[in-house]
Amino acid sequence: SPHLLSVDDLSLDAVEHLFTIARRMEPIARRRKITRVLEGAVLGNLFFEASTRTRMSFHAAFSRLGGSVCDTTGFTFSSMAKGESLYDTSRVMAGYVDAIVLRHPDQGSVAEFSRAINVPVINGGDGPGEHPSQALLDLYTIRQEFERLGKSLAGAHLLLTGDLRYGRTVHSLMRLLSLHPPLRITLVAPPGLEMPGELVDLVASRGHRIESRESLETHFEPVDVVYTTRIQKERFTEEMQERFHNLSDEFRVNRAFLDRHCPPETIVMHPLPRDSRPGANDLDVDLNGDPRLAIFRQTDNGIPVRMAIFAWLMGVDHLIEQSMRDVGW
Ligand code: CP
Repeated sequence: SPHLLSVDDLSLDAVEHLFTIARRMEPIARRRKITRVLEGAVLGNLFFEASTRTRMSFHAAFSRLGGSVCDTTGFTFSSMAKGESLYDTSRVMAGYVDAIVLRHPDQGSVAEFSRAINVPVINGGDGPGEHPSQALLDLYTIRQEFERLGKSLAGAHLLLTGDLRYGRTVHSLMRLLSLHPPLRITLVAPPGLEMPGELVDLVASRGHRIESRESLETHFEPVDVVYTTRIQKERFTEEMQERFHNLSDEFRVNRAFLDRHCPPETIVMHPLPRDSRPGANDLDVDLNGDPRLAIFRQTDNGIPVRMAIFAWLMGVDHLIEQSMRDVGW
């Protein structure tokens, strides 16, 4: 079966195909309707790490395609609490369901899991590795925002900031952006949390212009997109917990930063969750209600994009047009 483990499983043609399906599905994703293209199919939604968006939106997307969902959340609610291996778990699940979404704290674990089974597996986040469906909905959102603003992605300048070392969404997004004609990407991360060097080299080798800056206080050429990420403290060693206990405001995206450094049509994105606890400094709430803030347009796009991923991986994409007409769209 085809899987979606990494953005490397996708060509730009495949991305365009997914986005065409997603656009067609938007009316269903946003209203109380379902198609029946996956009627009778069951999704195994296996989350061994916390999640709100990915878990719920994959669930909703599968349901809106007419399928049903089995959930298990956290090690304590599966037999992995009794020492069962990921291999045995995957063999068992493959006999129960028609597709699996898996989130797991270990990088590479979802790929390992997929090797033993013959139903499509989607990587819902493997530790600090990748989160390909998030990158797809991020790119879908960027394209939608640019269309609204009358801009083109060609030659666009994107600023990626926050925890670029452990933030799996930016790892997938870098790979996805790199499939496009040359872009300009500026990276800003606290020392010790920089983007992995091999990923920077990969994207640069595909003709993109990559620059790194020490803080958000430095001068920037105008950016089209500011994409910020949470500091992934759950991945830190004890020593790192101490070191990054109080990050300076040099890494906080807020209204003052935007007003000082960014043109008025810059869009601000974040995969969410943003950290609202005292001392956190990824994305300030002072931008709430600002039209430049696209974070909830991102989360809304999670449904049609994930519907498209299922339709494509499960081989029912050719039925979408008829099924949409059947429900009056
Ligand atoms: N963006 C994202 O992966 O959010 P969740 O952790 O809530 O799924």
